Amino acid sequence: MRISIFGLGYVGTVSLACLARDGHSVIGVDIDPGKLAMLREGRSPIIEIGIRELVADVVASGRVEVTDDVAAAIHGSELSFVCVGTPARSNGSQDLRALERLGVEMGRALATKRAGHVIVVRSTVLPGTVAGVFTPLVETHAGRRRGDGFDICFQPEFLREGSSIRDYDAPPLSVIGAESEHAVHQLRQLFDKLSCHSVVCDIRTAEMLKYACNAFHALKISFANEVGRICQALDIDAHAVMDLVCMDTQLNISTAYLKPGFAFGGSCLPKDLRALLHVAARRDVDVPVLSGVRESNETHLRHGIHTVLATGATSVGMLGLSFKAGTDDLRESPLLSMAEHFVGKGLKVRIYDPEVNVSRLVGANRRYIDQTIPHIGSLMCAEPGPVIDESEVLVVGLRTPAVVSELIARCRQDHVVVDLVNLPNREHLRGQYRGVCW
Ligand SMILES: NC(=O)c1ccc[n+]([C@@H]2O[C@H](COP(=O)([O-])OP(=O)(O)OC[C@H]3O[C@@H](n4cnc5c(N)ncnc54)[C@H](O)[C@@H]3O)[C@@H](O)[C@H]2O)c1
Repeated sequence: MRISIFGLGYVGTVSLACLARDGHSVIGVDIDPGKLAMLREGRSPIIEIGIRELVADVVASGRVEVTDDVAAAIHGSELSFVCVGTPARSNGSQDLRALERLGVEMGRALATKRAGHVIVVRSTVLPGTVAGVFTPLVETHAGRRRGDGFDICFQPEFLREGSSIRDYDAPPLSVIGAESEHAVHQLRQLFDKLSCHSVVCDIRTAEMLKYACNAFHALKISFANEVGRICQALDIDAHAVMDLVCMDTQLNISTAYLKPGFAFGGSCLPKDLRALLHVAARRDVDVPVLSGVRESNETHLRHGIHTVLATGATSVGMLGLSFKAGTDDLRESPLLSMAEHFVGKGLKVRIYDPEVNVSRLVGANRRYIDQTIPHIGSLMCAEPGPVIDESEVLVVGLRTPAVVSELIARCRQDHVVVDLVNLPNREHLRGQYRGVCW
């Protein structure tokens, strides 16, 4: 394929070298004459393992040219990768000047190109940037809309500096954010040899994915470092601890606990987190991420409460009360906190939870109810039906077949459903009631 690459920094240079290595003809474009001169001489403008030799090889092969002429690169290729920098300004906002300038110049070039063209943005950009910033500039200056002779899509780049050639050949995932089948087809032709999962999604999801991944990686590093600092203060080998943490691929290094839903609670996580924070404080170990976890959980609970109150409803049905499905444990259940808040606000509250039968509860759970929430029994219903029928807002904290089938059977157009559990057939259900506010 004839490919042009705009921006010859880390991402652009590695892409240029690897695509040319794979037999494609590549035109590299940059505004930096120093980088262009280096590449013309077969020298790499970046330092990376293996890139020096690879750049020398592909330039010698004759499959690489470089230029600062955007129009020539667009006319000389069928597909363009946009790899310009998107640095942060001092306030954290994204500096999109390079992308905007390129949008204008690419649009002007496309105005005089008849053959079809695909633009693939690979720079990391916030959700909405491709559709809201880049595409309008290209369309305005091309004098026609996307889909009319050119397509624009987004493909997040997952390579890491230091191992970028290896990452290019073995990315964790290949994701194409696109609305055009032609763009997907072209990219599949280029990347189908990769052994990773390949997924097509909408552009905003793909844009957001890159931020979710990088935030997660940053969070993991900070988490491990905070555990490390606590271990250091307690004279425990942090590496031994974290090696064992990583050995658990069922709950720790896994998809467990990684789906958006409701706040955590129960008799273990809140208590043990508090104890860990206490021991850290006693040893003067600052752990802002771990402290922030509590704060984040409380914020999430408040968000749930606010979502319900903002509807203006006077009656709330809670489908689920314990801290998670399949248990009757009410200790530190966020759903219970929610219910109590609504009762305190004077709302009519009805609750269904098949596991929580107040008359059957014994032990710590019974004591908890008797001492802390003695009034809760009168709010409970034995069946979900009356809870649904008698409430304007439904807070769904259970995904059991009984709850799902009752929702399908009884939900009305004027119901507002706060879906905390990612209900099956969500799209289908959405048409049935006023909205899923989660
Ligand atoms: N570096 C990484 O490991 C990495 C990994 C994944 C994603 N990303 C993202 O990819 C993008 C590029 O990152 P990078 O590290 O390669 O950036 P970089 O700063 O190393 O390179 C950007 C290049 O774009 C060039 N440029 C600027 N304006 C231009 C224009 N109008 N036309 C042509 N070229 C222009 C610059 O001269 C520079 O050579 C960023 O959005 C970054 O967040 C980077």
